[in-house]
Amino acid sequence: MSAAIKHYLQFADFTAEEYAYLFARAALIKRKFKAYEKHHSLSDRTLAMVFEKASTRTRVSFEAGMYQLGGSVVNLTSGDSQLGRSEPIEDTARVISRMVDIVMIRTFEQARIDLFAQHSRVPVINGLTNEYHPCQILADLFTYIEHRGPIQGKTVAWIGDGNNMANTWAQAAALLGFTLRVSTPRGYEVDSQLAALNGAPGKGWQSFADPREACAGADLVTTDVWTSMGYEAENEARRQAFADWCVDAAMMAAAKPDALFMHCLPAHRGEEVTAEVIDGPQSVVWDEAENRMHVQKALLEYLLLGRLA
Ligand code: CP
Repeated sequence: MSAAIKHYLQFADFTAEEYAYLFARAALIKRKFKAYEKHHSLSDRTLAMVFEKASTRTRVSFEAGMYQLGGSVVNLTSGDSQLGRSEPIEDTARVISRMVDIVMIRTFEQARIDLFAQHSRVPVINGLTNEYHPCQILADLFTYIEHRGPIQGKTVAWIGDGNNMANTWAQAAALLGFTLRVSTPRGYEVDSQLAALNGAPGKGWQSFADPREACAGADLVTTDVWTSMGYEAENEARRQAFADWCVDAAMMAAAKPDALFMHCLPAHRGEEVTAEVIDGPQSVVWDEAENRMHVQKALLEYLLLGRLA
């Protein structure tokens, strides 16, 4: 067991002050990237990525980011590793963490990544679990700050599934001092235990039956697919239940005139969001996707090297 190692398994693992550092560092790293300036803070370090679910953005952002920091990357999936042949996750963690400096894992239950981290000799990053997606919210917050300044005191409307993104937004709201308004169909609500921040359920987020009410006066409107990975068997039932939770022009009109729209992607135009909104002027989804790489480079550095001047 390695209790002293700093992991990033859920948003609540860091303080508001650590997030302020990470956002400033990510801005510096992004500036250097845009100027083609070398930034090899992690030369000779190796990242292992473990994917038990599919990915485009997480794979590319971590892999490209680690190479840009001067490091190298090993990629494993369930299909091409012994994880797919039932090797215990604890044994996988023990072995991988003797050979690399840091691990990013995308998996199913949060308990599985927690177990991996308990048996890892090196920091572990959550690249998405059923319960949380902290790297995505890190990128979303950075994107908001880039476009509109501090998030403190602002209002974010979450429309759709009470999923891993919603849980993570709720933790972020409590930690960073903004309001989260959540509107989900009945039966798909946010689990207040998962959304809790260090034992403070309910703090920072409010529930709305009507998605337009949730959007009223919001600074940011955000959503996700109706069916997250692993829940495909519920596809048809969800399509019916979520029909009124499509972010459209009327919902955006209820928000503030300068409200932003975000979606972690991949998106299904005509389901959780209309093409008019996601491809419209208030949408910042491409910046949001790109920023995964910049914030994760700051995160990799922070977990391996601590604070840098
Ligand atoms: N948003 C996100 O995590 O994208 P991928 O599933 O493509 O990694």
